[in-house]
Amino acid sequence: MFAVRKMLHQAAPEFPAVLAAGGGQAERARDLARRLQLPLLPIGAEFTAMPAGKVVLFVEPDGLALQYTGMGAPGPVRVAFEGGDMLHRRRTGGARLLGKAVGHGKKTVLHVLDATAGLGRDAFMLADIGCRVRLCERELLLAELLRDALDRAALARDPQLRAAVQSLQLFASDSTALDAGQLDGLDVIYLDPMFPQRSKSAAVKKEMAIFQALLQHTVPSDADRLLSWALQQDVARIVVKRPLRAPHLGAVLPSHSVVGKTVRFDVHVRRKLA
Ligand SMILES: C[S@@+](CC[C@H](N)C(=O)[O-])C[C@H]1O[C@@H](n2cnc3c(N)ncnc32)[C@H](O)[C@@H]1O
Repeated sequence: MFAVRKMLHQAAPEFPAVLAAGGGQAERARDLARRLQLPLLPIGAEFTAMPAGKVVLFVEPDGLALQYTGMGAPGPVRVAFEGGDMLHRRRTGGARLLGKAVGHGKKTVLHVLDATAGLGRDAFMLADIGCRVRLCERELLLAELLRDALDRAALARDPQLRAAVQSLQLFASDSTALDAGQLDGLDVIYLDPMFPQRSKSAAVKKEMAIFQALLQHTVPSDADRLLSWALQQDVARIVVKRPLRAPHLGAVLPSHSVVGKTVRFDVHVRRKLA
């Protein structure tokens, strides 16, 4: 351990970085580090001995997780469609407002592009109520976590969960770079550039904090540009998630809003869903 601590202090690794939990995950970690162009930490490196507040992509035997570094860092965060948070959202009708905003029920099968996939929770909720969802995430590390979560959920015992993830198609790309084939047949574009979220739940706070730390190094928010792009696409509606009292994205007035307790969905209707 002394050798690892010494090496980390001397070499001052760049973050985010990839770390295998053990020898069995070494090859996957190497492959991820190469594809994501991230540094690979030596197996056995300790999070607690690394500079505080950085993020490591941790390759565990049962999947990928994000782990904070430093003393007293909270446990790992995963993208998990089968987890307690998702179950809670499903049971409490978490997709009700979002479903209403996208026009769920107005067409037999609604094709939605979630152009800001993030941790995939909204996309999953939409798939769970029967939409066909293409989810697009430009942050390649997050896209890997999403791919990992989709692969795990595809093998789940719960048939409803398996059916939902079969309705999800992931693109690791900037949404504005999707080609005509990838955008073909869409009814709705959904945007959630909203960040950070407020929540009383410690688990959600931890998720959001690590998410923020991870995205710190990426391009500043260009959500207005994303909305202008979405408004030019051939879709029936564009839905934008906003904090309850935030101004309209890009100062563009929506056709109407679906309002919840902490968030609202601004709906830009272009034509009838049919
Ligand atoms: C607030 S998060 C979305 C959270 C998501 N709705 C969920 O339920 O987990 C916003 C995400 O959008 C991604 N993003 C922002 N602009 C994008 C773009 N132009 N194309 C693809 N992804 C984008 C960011 O990398 C970030 O992961």
